[in-house]
Amino acid sequence: MTTTITPAITIAIDGYSSSGKSSMAKALAKKIGYRYIDSGAMYRAVTLYAMQHSMISAGHEVDCDALIAALPLIKIDFKVCEDGQHTLLNGVDVESKIRQLDVSNNVSQVAVIPAIRHALVAMQQAFGTEKGIVMDGRDIGTTVFPDAELKIFVNASAETRAMRRHKELIEKGESSTYEDVLANVVTRDHIDETRQESPLRKAQDAILLDNSKMTIAEQDSWLIDRYNEAISKLK
Ligand code: DC
Repeated sequence: MTTTITPAITIAIDGYSSSGKSSMAKALAKKIGYRYIDSGAMYRAVTLYAMQHSMISAGHEVDCDALIAALPLIKIDFKVCEDGQHTLLNGVDVESKIRQLDVSNNVSQVAVIPAIRHALVAMQQAFGTEKGIVMDGRDIGTTVFPDAELKIFVNASAETRAMRRHKELIEKGESSTYEDVLANVVTRDHIDETRQESPLRKAQDAILLDNSKMTIAEQDSWLIDRYNEAISKLK
């Protein structure tokens, strides 16, 4: 009897903020037994560190030199908990803090700093050395894992994305208005798309998904089909 071993691959899921890419990526990783890494959480954790150490002004100006000098002191990791994966900043669980609107309002300004991106890209690549990983973000298919066997680029209209994020924040007991969330989504899209260093862009070989009109079950099943196709190409 011959047994076929399914090869472990690298899966890159990029897309606009609040496009639902993290939920899809998490569901896929769980289903196929892969490690899931939320690269956006890493940018958020660095942003929180900068805020906690007074390195970001009220006008969202970042003290780049101070933050770059502090990089060796910033340790980011992930812990699997009952309600999903939590982000650890220097050993402290910051999962709920990094999702708050004040962090969202500063994170793009941190994510444009080339030295911060280089440091985080190196950490992300280290997470993926053994494959068997699903990572989501903005530059995973273009910069972090340009050789990923499966690349997906997710989009939905800004209004749909703001509605989803607003619902999530309300469910978590955060006070935010739909208008504030929409403004944050639009601003972050602009900063993500226009930054010099690895801007948000679909990799040429990524498969595009517009999930504006899809249910979560539909998008999860669409993604499993793409995974099965990618695996069958390798066999
Ligand atoms: O996916 P998210 O909204 O949690 O990401 C937070 C911010 O981090 C987002 O505004 C852009 C930035 N980011 C990035 O520049 N590159 C990544 N790979 C992931 C996130």
